[in-house]
Amino acid sequence: MTGALPTVELMTTQLKVAVVTGATQGLGLALVEGLAARLTPADTVYLTGRDPDRITAAVEAMPGGGARVRGELLDVAQPEAAGRLAAQLRERHGGADIVVNNAVMRVGPDDDPRAIVDAYTQVNNFGTTRVLRAFAPLLRTDGRLIVVASSFGTLRHLAPVLHDRFADLSSLDEVDKQVEAWRDAVRDGTARSGPWPGFVNIPSKIGQVAAVRALAAQRHDEDTRRGILLTAVCPGMINTPSSAMWWDVSSAPTPAQAAVPLLELALGPVNPDHYGQLVRHGHVLPWV
Ligand SMILES: NC(=O)c1ccc[n+]([C@@H]2O[C@H](COP(=O)([O-])OP(=O)(O)OC[C@H]3O[C@@H](n4cnc5c(N)ncnc54)[C@H](OP(=O)(O)O)[C@@H]3O)[C@@H](O)[C@H]2O)c1
Repeated sequence: MTGALPTVELMTTQLKVAVVTGATQGLGLALVEGLAARLTPADTVYLTGRDPDRITAAVEAMPGGGARVRGELLDVAQPEAAGRLAAQLRERHGGADIVVNNAVMRVGPDDDPRAIVDAYTQVNNFGTTRVLRAFAPLLRTDGRLIVVASSFGTLRHLAPVLHDRFADLSSLDEVDKQVEAWRDAVRDGTARSGPWPGFVNIPSKIGQVAAVRALAAQRHDEDTRRGILLTAVCPGMINTPSSAMWWDVSSAPTPAQAAVPLLELALGPVNPDHYGQLVRHGHVLPWV
C-alpha cells in the first residue's frame, strides 16, 4: 500500500460544507435548495442573509431531504461579518468546500446613483472582496469559490479609456481602490460628465470580475495543484424581482432553472479553462 491511499480515501469521504450569500430569495435561495438536494444528509449547506427573520423563514420553507440546511446571519455590508462567519466555520468544520458569493443590493431605474452608490458598493463590491478574503483561505482540496457576476462584467462594457483601471489588477486591495474611485465619482456627480456608464451595475460587475481575476492571479498555482476552482459566473437573465425592475423577465428562466449551470460548476468536474474567468453556461466570456 502506498502512503497516498489513505489521503484519497479521506478526501472522498469528507463531509461537504457549502455557503451561499444572499440566499433568502431569488438565485441564492435556489442555489441552496439545489445544493441541498444534490448533497447528502451528512453535509451542511449554509443559507445566509442579512435579516434573521427572512433567514429563518427561508430555512423553514426548504423542502427537506438531502443535506442539512442551516441559517446564518451574514450581512456582507458589515465589515467584520464575513470574517466572523468564516472563523466559525473553520472551528465547526475545519474548512469549506463550496462558497457562492451571490448577494446583491437591488436598485431600480428610479434610484439616483449618487444616493445609492455607497450602499450598493458596500454590498456588491466590498462585500464581495470581504467574502473572498475571508473564505478563500478556508477552501479545502477540490473546493469551489464562485462569484455571481453578470455578462456586464467584462471590459467591453466600459469605455476603452477606463480599461486600465480594472484590466490587470493583482490584489483585492487594488480592486477596492478602483471601485472606491468610481464610487466617489458617482457620489460627487463627476461620473456623469465623464466616460463612466450611467448604469451602476456595469462598473460594479466589472469590479466583481476584476476581484476574481486578481485573487486568481495570486492563487492559480496552488489552487490548480489542489483542484480548487475560483471563478465568476454569469447566470443569464432570471425572472426575479431584481431584474423585473428593469426588464420584462416574465419569460426568463426561474431561479431554479438559472441555478443549474452554477450547480454544475459547484459540484461537477473542474474545467481548468474556467479558472479566474467569467463563465456563462459553461463558456468563458472574453474579458476584453
Ligand atoms: N436577476 C437577474 O436577471 C440577474 C442577471 C444577472 C446576474 N444576476 C446576479 O445574480 C445574483 C442574484 O440576483 P437575484 O436576482 O437573485 O437577486 P435578488 O432576488 O434581489 O436577491 C438578492 C439577495 O441578496 C440579499 N442581500 C441584499 N443585501 C444583502 C446584504 N447586505 N448581505 C447579504 N445579503 C444581502 C437579499 O436579501 P433580502 O431577502 O434580505 O433582501 C436577497 O437574498 C446577483 O449577484 C445578481 O447581480 C442576476
